[in-house]
Amino acid sequence: MQVALREIGNCIIRRCDLSDLIPTMEINLKTLPEHYSDYFYESLLAELPEAFLVAEVEKKLVGYIMCKIEYGFSNFKKLGFVKKGHVVSVAVLDENRRKGIGEGLVQEAIAGVKLKKSDELYLEVRCSNSDAVRLYEKLGFIIKQRLKAYYRDGEDAYLMAIEFAY
Ligand code: ACO
Ligand code: ZN
Repeated sequence: MQVALREIGNCIIRRCDLSDLIPTMEINLKTLPEHYSDYFYESLLAELPEAFLVAEVEKKLVGYIMCKIEYGFSNFKKLGFVKKGHVVSVAVLDENRRKGIGEGLVQEAIAGVKLKKSDELYLEVRCSNSDAVRLYEKLGFIIKQRLKAYYRDGEDAYLMAIEFAY
């Protein structure tokens, strides 16, 4: 049992439990073309439970966000080597969108990677995915690069990132 991190109307955002992984994979299958193995979900949950979160409405999962921590070159500082959070995937079921749930998931994931003292948080998003780009921009992410043919179907991605101050 996990405590609610945030409530948005009748929706609660909380950390993911092992028993949430199958419904999380089902949401991913319904909402995004990028899918992952069971093992990958399990390892993200084991490595960074602070930023693997789910959104629940009436005991049913309607959204998730999952992240990992990486060490690498800064998206902000020249020659900087930093600890970076990486949003691997975030989604909300179609019928639950435009209620602030996606925003709540990303905000709580930011809080989660900050608990781990990350310097930055970044993600890739399809250039055509203007809903998601707008959400990230609203939360302070900046488009840092365009990654040519990043996706299997050949579409470009924006690399978007946000820098933290402590
Ligand atoms: N039209 C315009 N702006 C939008 C829209 C939309 N349809 N959806 C989200 N936004 C922007 C707005 O700025 C909105 O703020 P506002 O309501 O004050 O205008 C802000 O995002 C927050 O909206 P939420 O209601 O919190 O977002 P929602 O719960 O609908 O989730 C999400 C957004 C996750 C992108 C959802 O549309 C989704 O699941 N899409 C399919 C999966 C997807 O594309 N995931 C992101 C892929 S990239 C990655 O995973 C790293
Ligand atoms: Zn990524």
